[in-house]
Amino acid sequence: MPENAKLVLEGKEYELPVVTGTENEKAVDITRLRDLSGYITLDSGYKNTGATVSKITYLDGENGILRYRGYPIEQLAERSTFLEVAYLLIYGELPTRSQLDEFDNNIRRHTLIHEDMKRFYQAYPTYAHPMGVVASVTCSLSTFYPESLNPNRPWEKINLTITRILAKFPTIAAWAYNNSIGHPVNYPKNKYSYVENFLHMMFSKPTEEYEPDPVVVNALDKLLILHADHEQNCSTSTVRLVGSSQANLYGSIAAGCIALWGPLHGGANQAVIEMLDQIHADGGNVQKYVEKAKDKNDPFRLMGFGHRVYKNFDPRAKIIKKACDDVLNKLGIHDPVLDIAKKLEEVALQDEYFVERKLYPNVDFYSGIIYRAIGIPVDMFTVMFALGRLPGWIAQWKEMVENKEPIGRPRQIYTGAAKRDYVNIAERG
Ligand code: ACO
Repeated sequence: MPENAKLVLEGKEYELPVVTGTENEKAVDITRLRDLSGYITLDSGYKNTGATVSKITYLDGENGILRYRGYPIEQLAERSTFLEVAYLLIYGELPTRSQLDEFDNNIRRHTLIHEDMKRFYQAYPTYAHPMGVVASVTCSLSTFYPESLNPNRPWEKINLTITRILAKFPTIAAWAYNNSIGHPVNYPKNKYSYVENFLHMMFSKPTEEYEPDPVVVNALDKLLILHADHEQNCSTSTVRLVGSSQANLYGSIAAGCIALWGPLHGGANQAVIEMLDQIHADGGNVQKYVEKAKDKNDPFRLMGFGHRVYKNFDPRAKIIKKACDDVLNKLGIHDPVLDIAKKLEEVALQDEYFVERKLYPNVDFYSGIIYRAIGIPVDMFTVMFALGRLPGWIAQWKEMVENKEPIGRPRQIYTGAAKRDYVNIAERG
């Protein structure tokens, strides 16, 4: 017998259905509330609003649990590969060997981007932030593949669009970096795996081909897995919202890139390293910055701390912290900001302000240190996040299309001026 919630408004009682998820999460379904009562619900920042039901990712922020399609993130990070996880997220099940081989081969065959798009890169200034370039070029794919504009195509056609975006995104991203340092772009090579190919396109020079280091490839693969999906966060909700108007996949992903770019979301990994560098340059006084973060008159926040959903340790941060140690040890790098990061974490985790507010390090607290060790420059960090999040965006977009979800269109409570009459300019005091 399904439960109902009872809501009393102006003395009248309304029964609203309760929706229960796999893990017993509960929601009051208010879809019909306005029709029944004239009321809407108000929830700035959607802190307590479910925008959809979804079968993709389970996240329990109170207990620090993250699962893709039911599989714990710890197991996937330890035993899987990024392409396997991408397949899982997008198609719902772990691939068989032949399904994975086909998926991988298809991606390898679509990594080139149209030669005319190369000219876009020449037009961007070298100081362009790569996220702006990546989002623009991703959106431009829709102009080269106009058939992608029709969302009502058979699934095999849509799958080709999915393959193309997965295959071309590393090329688009690496070329943004090549351009930013004034170097010629590197063409993809089919002999390489997804991550190797990206590293080759980033770091090969006409004078010397980059040799992918298995330690680096492994760490990057893991980082991409950890970023692959995170249910209805800002950028993913953006992808679903934009896609709900039946905008094409390339444009929806480009919109997701822009949402991710902000320093409160995917831009946090860049902000973390900048903050750690600042603390280091300022003599490494961690306590001083913890005090600044607590001071309500100071806009400074501890970047990489706190999360909208996790009120416990971010499980991804635990995995990354270990991967970070492994990479630095294996590459023989001593990065002084790692010491600052560890000290900052230690101090903050014992400080009443952070404990009370349940502010723990998030996934971005350590990822920047790994990226830097690999040689990825700071303004490419958010691009790395986008590369990891891509399968999640695709999976969420696909689910939204398959579920035939209606166009997203929140309501509001208007608090502006009441009706008033137009005043001619000469009479306006
Ligand atoms: N440093 C200092 N204080 C903080 C921090 C922080 N990093 N994060 C939250 N707080 C404080 C707030 O000032 C607030 O205090 P108050 O209750 O006394 O007013 C309280 O903790 C709650 O914070 P909110 O901003 O209301 O929490 P919200 O859920 O809206 O924000 C967010 C979450 C944006 C992630 C926030 O914690 C933050 O700005 N963190 C730093 C940026 C960051 O690391 N972003 C990456 C997020 S992970 C990701 O996108 C992959």
